Formats: sequence, structure tokens, C-alpha cells
Amino acid sequence: MSKTKKTANWFSKHTKDPYVKKSQKDKYRSRAVYKLIEIDKKFRILNHCGSVLDLGSAPGSWLQYLQEFKNISNVIGVDILDIESIPGVKFFREDINNPNLYKLLSENDIKTDLVLSDIAPSITGIVDIDQSNFENTAKSVMECCRSMLKDGGALIMKYFLGSSFDELNLLLKRNFTKVNVFKPTSSKKSSKEIYFVCKGFQS
Ligand SMILES: C[S@@+](CC[C@H](N)C(=O)[O-])C[C@H]1O[C@@H](n2cnc3c(N)ncnc32)[C@H](O)[C@@H]1O
Repeated sequence: MSKTKKTANWFSKHTKDPYVKKSQKDKYRSRAVYKLIEIDKKFRILNHCGSVLDLGSAPGSWLQYLQEFKNISNVIGVDILDIESIPGVKFFREDINNPNLYKLLSENDIKTDLVLSDIAPSITGIVDIDQSNFENTAKSVMECCRSMLKDGGALIMKYFLGSSFDELNLLLKRNFTKVNVFKPTSSKKSSKEIYFVCKGFQS
């Protein structure tokens, strides 16, 4: 199939997607918001947070949703892409693999109750490369938790099922007292994405 035809197919499926339609009606920037809503409905995390760091936050629907919580007074977003600003949100246009990012954030004396990562590295289609990119992203997110997350804090991280899943699950279990794996119904069935929902960080 030609690239133009593939793009047209993707666009047609995208506009028919009920979560895309709902996000437009609810004025969220992305359908991704419903994944966070489902995760929070099940695991009850956001009501207990005062500060949240959202990695891979563009275009910003999770940031919009976080702003709806009166108890959350400090929201920071990070992405390699820029976002249209959201009142009350501090945004850093940075790669999470850049070690200077954590230096920059810690200079601001920021420690957070919750780290979110909805990052999806670009897919090359070559299984080994893609899996290694997912692993590297997860390692950077863990690095971020070590420098930014309060003891007892939580992590919600997107991951893709594959060969390194068990290894990462073990690593998370060493750093958090509770680790769950959850696939929201708003996550496409055809996608291998799942979310790790981890509570009780121990530095
Ligand atoms: C699925 S989108 C996030 C959607 C977001 N949760 C929302 O609600 O709008 C994934 C994002 O991860 C970002 N991303 C990918 N690799 C990154 C990296 N190394 N550092 C920072 N952001 C990255 C992409 O630019 C993209 O905006």
C-alpha cells in the first residue's frame, strides 16, 4: 500500500474513533486523556498528589486533566515537542534522556508525588531496535524517579509488551512496594501498549 493511502486510512480510522470524537467534545487535546482517567478510576492516585511530573506530555491532555484537581498545585510537563501553554503548568522542552534535565529540575528544588510517562519512542519496525528503545526509555524514566520522586510516591508508565517485560517488572518491584499492569479499554486492542502502575517508591 502506498504511503498516501496508508495516511488516508489512518486519518479515516482516527476520525471515526469514539475516543477521538469524545476528546473533541470534551475539549481535551488528545484521546490519551481517557487512559489516565481509567487508570486513576481503578487505582485512585491523583486525589493523593500535590505535585506531578508528566514525561512525554505533548500535546497536553494529561496536563489539562491534572489541572482539574484542586489538590494538585504543582504540574510540570516535559516533551521533545513544544506544547500550547496551559495556565499553571511549567513546561520544559527537553529529551528525557538528557541528564541535564534532572539537574535543571532539581535546581528548581522540585520533588514530586507522581511521575507519569506516556512516552512512545518512534517505531522503526525492527523488533530488536524498537525493544531496545522501549527499554532505554524505561531506564530514563526510572532515573527520573530516582532523582525526582518522593519516597512513597507513585509512577504510571506506558510500556510495550515484549521480550524485556519480565526484567522491567522485576526492576520496578525492587523499587516500588506495589506494581500492577493495566490495559485501559481506551487503549487500542491492536496495540501492545500496557501501563505499569506502581505505588510506594523506595529510594
Ligand atoms: C502518546 S504522546 C503523549 C500524549 C500525552 N499523554 C497527552 O495526553 O497529550 C507521547 C509523547 O512522548 C514524546 N516523547 C517521545 N520520546 C521522548 C523523549 N525521549 N523525551 C521526551 N518526550 C518524548 C513524544 O514527543 C510525544 O509527544
